[in-house]
Amino acid sequence: MVDNKQCPVSDFEISGIELEASLPNQYASIAEPCSEDCDTKFTIEEDCSSCKPEQYCCIEINNICINFGKAKIIEDVSLKIYRNAVTAIIGPSGCGKSSFLCGINKLTDLFPNCQVNGSVKFEWDHSIYTQKASLLRRHVGMLFQKPNPFPFSIRKNLEFPLREHGISDPYEISVKVEKALSDVGLWDEVKDRVDESALSLSGGQQQRLCLARALILEPSVLLMDEPCSALDPMATKKIEGLIQELSKKMTVILVTHNLSQAKRVADHVALFWKTDNIGRLIEYGSVDDFFGQPKHELTKTYLEFG
Ligand SMILES: Nc1ncnc2c1ncn2[C@@H]1O[C@H](COP(=O)(O)OP(=O)(O)OP(=O)(O)O)[C@@H](O)[C@H]1O
Ligand SMILES: [Mg+2]
Repeated sequence: MVDNKQCPVSDFEISGIELEASLPNQYASIAEPCSEDCDTKFTIEEDCSSCKPEQYCCIEINNICINFGKAKIIEDVSLKIYRNAVTAIIGPSGCGKSSFLCGINKLTDLFPNCQVNGSVKFEWDHSIYTQKASLLRRHVGMLFQKPNPFPFSIRKNLEFPLREHGISDPYEISVKVEKALSDVGLWDEVKDRVDESALSLSGGQQQRLCLARALILEPSVLLMDEPCSALDPMATKKIEGLIQELSKKMTVILVTHNLSQAKRVADHVALFWKTDNIGRLIEYGSVDDFFGQPKHELTKTYLEFG
């Protein structure tokens, strides 16, 4: 049995809900020097000042396939997600973008008829991530398309994840609540009403509250599924600003239908498309290459709609 405390990469091989512990040689497959001139291997704790953030791989996804019952939803999607960068996932409705996001933090486990195969490797250490979805989600936050605050007070929405993860000291909680609200630019707007219902906030405020809730456990990765689709341009601008700010310290995967938004905030862009009724990855590249020199005909066609 490998001592995973020593292994610098967490790796869950997904097959239904079966999980396998990671092995050092699997780490070796992605823990390469981030450039030829540099032999620093990536870990979350260890930064390499001579390398650019886009050279670090945070998540390596190999041959992910997702089925709902007999229906194949996505097939053989492989891509590397770079650390402290924004990766936008775009593509027509129904091509499996949300399912793909859910596969990354195992929300797919919540659907009994959903089967996921393939592998997802995270750069960080500790085998604990391989054991419990709740622990994985502690480090992989998610923001959904529609704001989904709990029907509690603003404060309780933020206390809830902290208490769920064993943080009960009132002072620590109040410091974290204020920080999370400040980080999303909501503190000044709600500081006098934190004990009022979260449902009394506007849609844009609710989405920022949900973002604060996703951030309060200080995840390393943030998954965002069309976070601005229900927001007006001003609220959208605020969220986009936050995405760019957040990506300085965490890895963001953003599903969006808004091509201009992808161009504005993303460092890397992936196009998913449904062919033969199954979602597939069509093209993946840096934002400049993707928009400036698209290679695939489907990408060129899709960009014409933007
Ligand atoms: N719980 C589920 N049970 C059965 N099929 C599902 C389930 N969730 C999603 N699907 C199917 O998976 C396919 C992909 O859906 P998904 O929501 O991932 O697409 P999407 O690219 O996010 O679309 P949109 O852009 O409209 O949000 C669709 O055909 C959908 O009907
Ligand atoms: Mg979706």
